[in-house]
Amino acid sequence: MSEAVLADAPAKADRRLIVPLDVPTADEARALVAGIGDAASFYKVGLELFATDGMALARELKAQGKQVFLDWKLHDIPTTVQRAAAAIAQSGCDFITVHGEPQVMAAAVRGRGASSLKILAVTVLTSLADEDLVEMGYAETARALVERRIHQAIAAGCDGVVASPHEAALARSLGGRDFLVVTPGVRPDWSAKNDQARAATPLDALKAGASHIVCGRPITAANDPHAAALRVAAEMAQAG
Ligand code: C5P
Repeated sequence: MSEAVLADAPAKADRRLIVPLDVPTADEARALVAGIGDAASFYKVGLELFATDGMALARELKAQGKQVFLDWKLHDIPTTVQRAAAAIAQSGCDFITVHGEPQVMAAAVRGRGASSLKILAVTVLTSLADEDLVEMGYAETARALVERRIHQAIAAGCDGVVASPHEAALARSLGGRDFLVVTPGVRPDWSAKNDQARAATPLDALKAGASHIVCGRPITAANDPHAAALRVAAEMAQAG
């Protein structure tokens, strides 16, 4: 995107942008959120923060009017998953991830009941290659398993999936217009790729079918996280 387009774009947050708080302590997360200010309103709290005081931070963010995505990838016997989802629903958080096995997904959907908590299925971890799946006993390629699990997520009543930029179009076409497609692995042209080998730009991820993008280090490692978040949002605005 040219600087001219960026200069013309409205300088406002985009509710489809999720910033992951990939830091070890709640204090570091608070400092990041303060630095981003009004340039983003949706944050992802993962397992690293969960191990310290992630839930307290999540409640704090909710009290500040932010949206919170708990990326905890629940995976346990159905009773435990159901109870965990019910407890998370009570917290008022917005998104929770679960592993994409039919029994796990159905239990999470039962647990959230009539609450507004959205259940997102992680179909196949992007760290797994076809040969890893063979080692684990699966007879399918990663792509085929992703497709199978998207169908199963829909059947289980999940609200959406986490999908790489390369799977976003498939998830959108199978899930339909209101299905949530949350896409990490997003890098604007102007930022370092870090360890995201097959990244897409924010605009391309949205065009492929993402309803939300997760974009971390281009914002969180920037000298000015507020300006970087607005720059990503300006690019997203081009998708309409
Ligand atoms: O800094 P960056 O934008 O790479 O952060 C991406 C976030 O999305 C991290 O929290 C990472 O764990 C998560 N994620 C990912 N790729 C996946 C699933 C989750 O990068 N396939």
